[in-house]
Amino acid sequence: MKLTLKIWRQKNAETKGKLVDYPIDGIEGDMSFLEMLDVLNEELIIKDEEPVAFDHDCREGICGSCSLQINGEAHGPDRLITTCQLHMRMFNDGDTIYIEPFRATAFPVIKDLIVDRSSFDRIQHTGGFISVNTSGNTIDANTIPINKYDADTAFEAAICIGCGACVASCKNSSAMLFVGAKVSQFALLPQGKIEATDRVLNMVKQMDEEGFGNCTNTGACEVECPKGISLENIARMNREYLSASLKR
Ligand code: SF4
Ligand code: FES
Repeated sequence: MKLTLKIWRQKNAETKGKLVDYPIDGIEGDMSFLEMLDVLNEELIIKDEEPVAFDHDCREGICGSCSLQINGEAHGPDRLITTCQLHMRMFNDGDTIYIEPFRATAFPVIKDLIVDRSSFDRIQHTGGFISVNTSGNTIDANTIPINKYDADTAFEAAICIGCGACVASCKNSSAMLFVGAKVSQFALLPQGKIEATDRVLNMVKQMDEEGFGNCTNTGACEVECPKGISLENIARMNREYLSASLKR
């Protein structure tokens, strides 16, 4: 395939960015989107030009670092996959592809396509953990009976990889799907009950302080989430928040 790439180039957070055109040829349908960018970067390096900076690590849909806005969609046109799992067969010969970083005030651009998502880490630090007695008397988790619905629902929330596509897809740059998943994965399990009140209050407070917007039930986050995290997690977080507020 022969393609025209329009890629966001930005030297650093202080400078203005712009879209730059890069024609590219010889792209196979079986290549991943990141492999296509690797080909481009090899060509740029040979021409002594600055390669395009983009984030990636596992390249198998686990780490959540490969976050790109492709033709206006977080992680591109396919569903339930990350950018590293996106194949070039989703595009046609002659296509023009717009490649931009995730856009949100709480995700400032570091360089080109890389954004700073440490705001997510700071939210996690305020409540994304449980207290476990590690004195030698730790209870084996398998000895605590948990009904199947709760176990499955907690697991479905726990597969959030913190990629930020929910924020990038939301017109309000809301992080409520992410925070809802992180609250839900513990709220449903007995291990999460100890800090339940502090967890939801502190995580929501930090989310607001980081500058994320509110949820207006549009549902774009659920559509673009590579892990299929359900909007039900936002509803559960709201219930947890209300109940925690009444306890204070
Ligand atoms: S909820 Fe989905 S889109 Fe949002 S950070 Fe988690 S995995 Fe990514
Ligand atoms: S590089 Fe890890 S999820 Fe894509």
